[in-house]
Amino acid sequence: MNPDKIIKEELLATLTGLRWSLLSLRYGGIADWPHMAGLETMPAKGPSHIGQPATEHENSVDGEKVLSSIQQDLGDCTRCRLHRTRTRIVFGEGSVGASIVFVGEGPGFEEDQQGRPFVGRAGKLLDKMIRALGLAREQVYICNMVKCRPPDNRTPNSDEIEVCSPFLVKQIEAIRPQVICALGACSAQNLLHSTSPISRLRGKIHHWRGIPLVATFHPAYLLRNPAQKSAAWHDLVELLRIVSG
Ligand code: URA
Repeated sequence: MNPDKIIKEELLATLTGLRWSLLSLRYGGIADWPHMAGLETMPAKGPSHIGQPATEHENSVDGEKVLSSIQQDLGDCTRCRLHRTRTRIVFGEGSVGASIVFVGEGPGFEEDQQGRPFVGRAGKLLDKMIRALGLAREQVYICNMVKCRPPDNRTPNSDEIEVCSPFLVKQIEAIRPQVICALGACSAQNLLHSTSPISRLRGKIHHWRGIPLVATFHPAYLLRNPAQKSAAWHDLVELLRIVSG
């Protein structure tokens, strides 16, 4: 390999390592989630195809076609009772070339109004978590176990999850991220077919169809239980380790 390229790659690896160490020092073990003052000014990486070899860019174009055909199949879905009370379907959004897919529970009020995942209070915290990883929201992919808001924000029923899951499976398979982050008990338990509490599912690396999966607390839970934010930070560091593997 060209010596300049080797030096550049080593420098990049050192800087990435340094960034993690600084972030861990800054956030590890603290009770409140970071205010992100310094980090917010850090430039986020550009669109995922910039700097990618042509074939990778072509793959993302194909992936986008696959995602839109999944959305077309979903159509104006009436497959379960949730369609009766929803305002909009929340399909999911982000980069088809994402290295991380975040999977939440189901749309809340704001998401139902806007047709976009995680745009309410919990979404603002998720945005901060993503920024803490050194990523922009557009660089990851965000979706939910169910695509329609359960009435009164109740947890989706297992039959609703079952009907919706072929679409979620296809979405994740189209992206084939380096890691899945399951946000909260509903997502972690259903993706892993487990009944263990989230406190037992987090803190280790699982696999979903061959893709590493890290479970962490749901941002809405973190808003109510800020003392758990440091544990969530450790889960994010695990995500970074896998992505940079
Ligand atoms: N909570 C979720 O689980 N998903 C959203 O999209 C918003 C809030």
